[in-house]
Amino acid sequence: MPSLRNVLVGLASIGSALAAGSYPSLKVRNAGVPVGQLKNVSGIQIYHSYPPGRNTSAKAILFVTDIYGVPLLQNQLLADSLASNDYLVIMPDLFAGDAVSVEEQEAGLNLTEWRALHPTPEIDRIINTTIGYMRSKLDVEKIGGVGYCFGGKYVPRFLKASGGIDAGFIAHPSALTEGEISAIKAPVSIAAGTLDAAFNATAKSRAETILNSNNVTFQSNLYFAAPHGFAVRVNQSIPQQAYAKQASFVQAVTWFDSWL
Ligand SMILES: *[C@@H]1O[C@H](CO)[C@@H](O)[C@H](O)[C@H]1NC(C)=O
Ligand SMILES: *[C@@H]1O[C@H](CO)[C@@H](O)[C@H](O)[C@H]1NC(C)=O
Ligand SMILES: *[C@@H]1O[C@H](CO)[C@@H](O)[C@H](O)[C@H]1NC(C)=O
Ligand SMILES: *[C@@H]1O[C@H](CO)[C@@H](O)[C@H](O)[C@H]1NC(C)=O
Ligand SMILES: *[C@@H]1O[C@H](CO)[C@@H](O)[C@H](O)[C@H]1NC(C)=O
Ligand SMILES: *[C@@H]1O[C@H](CO)[C@@H](O)[C@H](O)[C@H]1NC(C)=O
Ligand SMILES: *[C@@H]1O[C@H](CO)[C@@H](O)[C@H](O)[C@H]1NC(C)=O
Repeated sequence: MPSLRNVLVGLASIGSALAAGSYPSLKVRNAGVPVGQLKNVSGIQIYHSYPPGRNTSAKAILFVTDIYGVPLLQNQLLADSLASNDYLVIMPDLFAGDAVSVEEQEAGLNLTEWRALHPTPEIDRIINTTIGYMRSKLDVEKIGGVGYCFGGKYVPRFLKASGGIDAGFIAHPSALTEGEISAIKAPVSIAAGTLDAAFNATAKSRAETILNSNNVTFQSNLYFAAPHGFAVRVNQSIPQQAYAKQASFVQAVTWFDSWL
């Protein structure tokens, strides 16, 4: 049994870690009410989640979503969870109000048709506008990019030389090409799942080989029994999925704490 003294010393060190602002919340929120605010910026709806006690931060995170976009509760809670770790988090609507709902997808929405409505140059333009807004209006000096599924293709596009994002984290990317990986210059962290056909173990291993031979600072993790989407939407009653979501969240935060 721990002595009372050890317990008190332990509590005191947790208290001082919180006071120093380190790791206020490394636990990702999976339920509850989002705390961020939606603002219309040059015609783009942008979700803003603020760090505790402040409305900006010199190092901020640009959140590039999956196809479910800003309306998805899990995306807003994930943005809030990142913000709890002292980062301003900015999540633009990439789809001009046309994000896919989980219900539509389950009902068999034709994603090929939907993707054609949201071509790469248009998504690039929205991300670029958002980066400009972060630097010029929010006084952000360094930008960390997180990209999930659909967004996992776009964060690497902005990690090239002078791309506008200073460090990246991507989870279960879709449609990410080897050309896009080869152009990466800034530090990147990758979370992959063994059940994800969109970015399988072969693709992960290829990415590692390319990044390593290009001398890019990188890190990658493979999560067992984690399906596509695991860093955002999981079945919390399946232990491997709950673990993969939580651990990939910690992976992102610790990456930015070191490399942003
Ligand atoms: C956002 O602002 C633009 C003008 O900058 C306006 O045309 C548009 O209707 C606004 N959108 C929403 C959803 O409020
Ligand atoms: C942040 O707060 C300052 C001071 O209250 C205010 O001037 C500024 O407009 C706020 N910025 C944002 C992005 O809300
Ligand atoms: C989805 O749409 C594409 C493009 O219109 C079409 O080629 C394809 O057959 C459709 N798929 C399904 C399952 O209907
Ligand atoms: C972003 O905008 C800058 C100019 O502001 C431009 O030089 C750059 O090519 C753009 N990047 C992308 C990916 O569109
Ligand atoms: C990953 O997918 C590619 C084709 O998309 C396939 O050739 C390869 O065998 C797959 N790797 C694994 C580990 O399933
Ligand atoms: C590779 O990157 C490391 C760390 O940034 C640097 O110290 C080293 O000089 C680089 N090597 C080459 C061959 O560029
Ligand atoms: C989550 O997983 C549990 C345990 O395998 C299963 O019983 C349940 O139906 C799943 N829930 C959803 C929404 O898929």
